[in-house]
Amino acid sequence: LGGLSRGAGRARAGGQKPFLSFLFLHQLLLQMLQLPSSCAWTTRQPHIVFVLADDLGWNDVGYHDSNIFTPHLDALAAGGVRLENYYTQPLCTPSRSQLLTGRYQIHTGLQHQIIWPCQPSCLPLDEKLLPELLQEAGYVTHMVGKWHLGMFRKECLPTRRGFDTFFGYLLGSEDYYSHKHCVHIDALNVTRCALDFRDGEDVAEGYNNTYSTNIFTEKAIDLIAKHPAQKPLFLYLALQSVHEPLQVPEEYQQLYDFIQDKKRRSYAGMVTLMDEAVGNVTRALNKYGLWNDTVFIFSTDNGGQTLAGGNNWPLRGRKWTLWEGGIRGVGFVASPLLKQTGVQSRELIHISDWLPTLVNLAGGHTNSTKPLDGFDVWKTISEGNPSPRMELLHNIDPGFVDISPCPESTRPPSKSDSFSTTHSTFNVSIHAAIRYGNWKLLTGYPGCDYWFPPPSLSNITKQPSPDSPNKNLWLFDIQQDPEERYDLSSKHPSIVKKLLDRLQYYQKSSVPVFYPDEDPHCDPKATGVWGPWM
Ligand SMILES: *[C@@H]1O[C@H](CO)[C@@H](O)[C@H](O)[C@H]1NC(C)=O
Ligand SMILES: *[C@@H]1O[C@H](CO)[C@@H](O)[C@H](O)[C@H]1NC(C)=O
Ligand SMILES: *[C@@H]1O[C@H](CO)[C@@H](O)[C@H](O)[C@H]1NC(C)=O
Ligand SMILES: *[C@@H]1O[C@H](CO)[C@@H](O)[C@H](O)[C@H]1NC(C)=O
Ligand SMILES: *[C@@H]1O[C@H](CO)[C@@H](O)[C@H](O)[C@H]1NC(C)=O
Ligand SMILES: *[C@@H]1O[C@H](CO)[C@@H](O)[C@H](O)[C@H]1NC(C)=O
Ligand SMILES: *[C@@H]1O[C@H](CO)[C@@H](O)[C@H](O)[C@H]1NC(C)=O
Repeated sequence: LGGLSRGAGRARAGGQKPFLSFLFLHQLLLQMLQLPSSCAWTTRQPHIVFVLADDLGWNDVGYHDSNIFTPHLDALAAGGVRLENYYTQPLCTPSRSQLLTGRYQIHTGLQHQIIWPCQPSCLPLDEKLLPELLQEAGYVTHMVGKWHLGMFRKECLPTRRGFDTFFGYLLGSEDYYSHKHCVHIDALNVTRCALDFRDGEDVAEGYNNTYSTNIFTEKAIDLIAKHPAQKPLFLYLALQSVHEPLQVPEEYQQLYDFIQDKKRRSYAGMVTLMDEAVGNVTRALNKYGLWNDTVFIFSTDNGGQTLAGGNNWPLRGRKWTLWEGGIRGVGFVASPLLKQTGVQSRELIHISDWLPTLVNLAGGHTNSTKPLDGFDVWKTISEGNPSPRMELLHNIDPGFVDISPCPESTRPPSKSDSFSTTHSTFNVSIHAAIRYGNWKLLTGYPGCDYWFPPPSLSNITKQPSPDSPNKNLWLFDIQQDPEERYDLSSKHPSIVKKLLDRLQYYQKSSVPVFYPDEDPHCDPKATGVWGPWM
């Protein structure tokens, strides 16, 4: 566990290296013209390294007082800006879609669940993605890890969507060692297991029995080592860790002998291995001279899955739900280019904000995208300015089904509520949630509504929801009540009405849900490999 004992080794800001003379002149010109400082950014385009963890929960990092060791994440976060009012979507595909488009799912048709392996669907091809915009700004763009944004046609692949190179998974939930993905294809009534591993568009062979996070980390380090420092780099490292299956080398699990719960013990080992991976990547950025000009972002894609070792205590709910436990994300930025460091930002930030933030930071243009839902939050992060984002649509999904409802929950479909007819046109039976300032409104069935303490708090048992099964409207003051325990909807009917009107406004601008039936032609039986079939 070499990585554990080493420090995160970050360098201090300062000392620019020689840069292209035209950039220098450009910089001088900007200064002479006294353009606002947002234009006269750093003297060069920063390298951008974005590490996305999979299913890492709120209570799964050391700096949130978890009993899981994450020394590298803790050190990086402590020397950077922790995002403590930061939101993702409650699921893989949705979060990844918003990260790469800067747009809400109601605008891309991906409101409902994820893209399953046999669905002929992908992130719509008329969306302009973050890596494409960075390519246009002159960046070299690499992706390592999990895509999960559709692959039924070649046009959907990461290499056709702005990444110069790709290495990793097209789907999700692979075996960490064999890199196979198994799924039951209902249309054929068979369960298929096939390899899901690609190097570019070719099948990646010869990686059997090696843990994916080690492979991905080595690939990332290799790209960093070979990167010419004078060119701006965008590296998107979307780790498989710490999604189930619960697999990790024994020595990592052994660190957690004190955790009795078997799932939590494996999971904790997985988190610590991932932490080591992040330490290795940042050490490589230092070693190869990139770190001084790097903006390093770490984010989870959604809340922890309590059925698979993850934990979001004291937040309510879990992955798949619109409760805070599903969407309030672990995230931070570390960079010598930050103007403020060692701070915890409590400004509202969302995963859709990265696209405009990073493209602007890169000196690129967002004028070729469809209308963005994200905001440029760089000054919020770097300088502590108030967030430009007042409002956040968490989602509207008229067809929501909780595929992992709470153990004892036998929740019938909710009846319509008086709010829907007398106060607003929004149908409060619909699964939806919206945030405005500190207010959060939820409607319909938001998903499993328990509070799950970590298994180590053996004196506290899981806490079922006190709500009646027909309840379908809640209003919380998230700043005062991040655990969503005190519904204030009856105290503040005018705020409820306002937020329902906003939901109705968003509902009107929604495109129809695109969630096609499985196509049996996806069957990888003949090739033994998942991949484009159309
Ligand atoms: C699917 O296959 C299983 C066993 O192979 C069989 O028992 C079951 O009836 C089949 N289901 C359908 C819907 O054909
Ligand atoms: C991968 O390794 C496992 C365990 O050693 C072995 O059973 C399996 O056949 C190997 N698969 C391939 C495709 O080589
Ligand atoms: C991190 O680097 C060390 C030293 O090279 C190596 O032993 C370890 O396996 C690496 N860990 C990961 C997760 O890549
Ligand atoms: C990075 O910055 C530090 C502190 O200013 C400096 O000592 C170091 O030489 C710089 N490294 C590179 C590769 O520019
Ligand atoms: C975006 O703006 C830049 C700079 O003003 C311009 O060069 C480019 O052509 C514009 N692109 C589109 C698609 O409008
Ligand atoms: C309200 O939404 C629910 C859930 O999506 C749906 O079943 C019901 O038909 C809708 N009611 C009306 C009046 O549209
Ligand atoms: C449960 O135990 C933890 C530490 O073991 C303690 O901090 C906490 O106050 C206890 N909670 C209750 C409800 O007893």
